[in-house]
Amino acid sequence: MPSSIDLSRLPRTVALERQQGRSVLRYVDQRFLPGELREVVTADWREVVDAIKVLGVRGAPAIGVAGAAACALWAADPTTSMENFAQELEVIASARPTAVNLRWAVERVVAAAEAAGAVEAARQGDREVLAQALFDQTQRIAREDEAANRAMGAFGAELLSPGTRLLTHCNAGSLATSFFGTALGVVYAAAQQGKIARVYADETRPLGQGARLTSWELAQAGVPVTLICDNMAASLMAAGKVDAVVVGADRITRNGDVANKIGTYGVAVLARHHGIPFYVAAPSSTVDLSLKEGSQIPIEQRGADEVLPQPIPGVQVWNPAFDVTPAELVTAIITERGVFAPADLAQAMGYITGEAGV
Ligand code: MRU
Repeated sequence: MPSSIDLSRLPRTVALERQQGRSVLRYVDQRFLPGELREVVTADWREVVDAIKVLGVRGAPAIGVAGAAACALWAADPTTSMENFAQELEVIASARPTAVNLRWAVERVVAAAEAAGAVEAARQGDREVLAQALFDQTQRIAREDEAANRAMGAFGAELLSPGTRLLTHCNAGSLATSFFGTALGVVYAAAQQGKIARVYADETRPLGQGARLTSWELAQAGVPVTLICDNMAASLMAAGKVDAVVVGADRITRNGDVANKIGTYGVAVLARHHGIPFYVAAPSSTVDLSLKEGSQIPIEQRGADEVLPQPIPGVQVWNPAFDVTPAELVTAIITERGVFAPADLAQAMGYITGEAGV
């Protein structure tokens, strides 16, 4: 089957660049999609933190790149002081708590700058060296992210048969990464091989990442897509219309438990009931080897207004942004290093089993 998908129609979500001699982050403000493809260019690290908080930039790998970029913008900002370095970098790293990629990226760029002596140089007054080191490391993370996505796509496509009807939840697409996507990276790689008959996109209450972003992104790329409400997935599966589920992740613990957008757990339960494989696609930067199991993952709680824009007196709202799918419901985890059973992931990522075991 010839492939007619066209990834050149997808925007690059986040890019740290030099424009007219200064460092800027260029990002797509995803709150305006699908109606408007609004690009924002900023040199202000606080603006980047705000964009992460309000989901202007969203998706675990994309907020990792944005967080690293915020560090580079911080260093290039003449109004910041090295006295506040640790404290203000913590403001960046904690902008959203569940996706480990954010803290991972901040720690990685700072560690690289420290190793190169750039933090010490900045303490001695040479801020330019620090700004350059953080800039270079951010661009490196972005390049590696795209390469990881393409590798994941190739591994994931091998798991799918021609004619696959795939269901996904939230947006783990190119929009959520530096390019290509994780779960949707698998879709694109499989579609290029003519294997994708259709993607069903869950709308993803309450913020509609599936309705606004995944359906738009897939349509842009030319992948056949059908949008469904979250509560239709069970009927769709019962009707025999789903061959595989592929989702992304915000954090995966040593035992293979997976935090992802709220509602993912329900999809995994449904998939198990209907005998449908449930795959998670995520780069190694999403694996948190410091945590043993999913109950240790901080789950972001968001405002009531996202669920109930018009408050009703006496009505409380519970709005966790993520849930944890237990490893036992996950068929396999697709990474840039290969495809692993959840129980084998930690070892594959280099975790050495200690006395307490994995
Ligand atoms: O709240 P969001 O939109 O940032 O949540 C995003 C998700 O849950 C994605 O599935 C996950 O970050 C993986 S993105 C490749």
